[in-house]
Amino acid sequence: MLSVVVLISGSGSNLRALLEATENPLFGAKILAVGADNPADGLAHAEHFGVPTFVVSPTAFASREQWAEVLLANVQHFKPDLVVLAGFMRILPQNFVSALSPNLINTHPSLLPNFPGSHAVRDALAAGATTTGVTVHIVDEGVDTGPHIRQAALDILPDETESELHERIKVIERQQLIEVVRDIAQKKIHLTQLSR
Ligand code: GRF
Repeated sequence: MLSVVVLISGSGSNLRALLEATENPLFGAKILAVGADNPADGLAHAEHFGVPTFVVSPTAFASREQWAEVLLANVQHFKPDLVVLAGFMRILPQNFVSALSPNLINTHPSLLPNFPGSHAVRDALAAGATTTGVTVHIVDEGVDTGPHIRQAALDILPDETESELHERIKVIERQQLIEVVRDIAQKKIHLTQLSR
């Protein structure tokens, strides 16, 4: 059984989808805990499923590295096989990434390398793109630069707003994230090989 810790910052719809999927014992993965950088609304999903939660806020620390050390200690307390960033909106410093990668993955709402960073959906619209999508990738020391695990594309509709497009992206994003975690659990994806 693949043990997983999920980190979030917001509403947690990706987390909710993973919690629901891992309810099936045939899925092959179990979420041991959910962490956040703030008292995020999405933590309620974990509480609903009886999954422990923790919050480590950057504002409580003098540096990003000190914050990341404590965040890492909370994650490693559960000894996960895999850490999933599902709408986690902080840049993780080298001390955190090197302790976990390649067993540290992120879902990003664009077809990387296009539109990295925290405004991917807005940037795709502003660029006049006609297609965008979602990428699940291994987290490395860069921002949204790690090896791609899987991508899915969708057309951008005329005149749709950022939130309308992001909600449509999330529909395929949640499905893709579930499939990637399942395939890692079932050893159809080997993160160490991908990260070479
Ligand atoms: C996701 O689209 C993720 O890719 C992005 O923020 C969104 C979080 O959505 N970084 P949710 O909190 O999982 O609903």
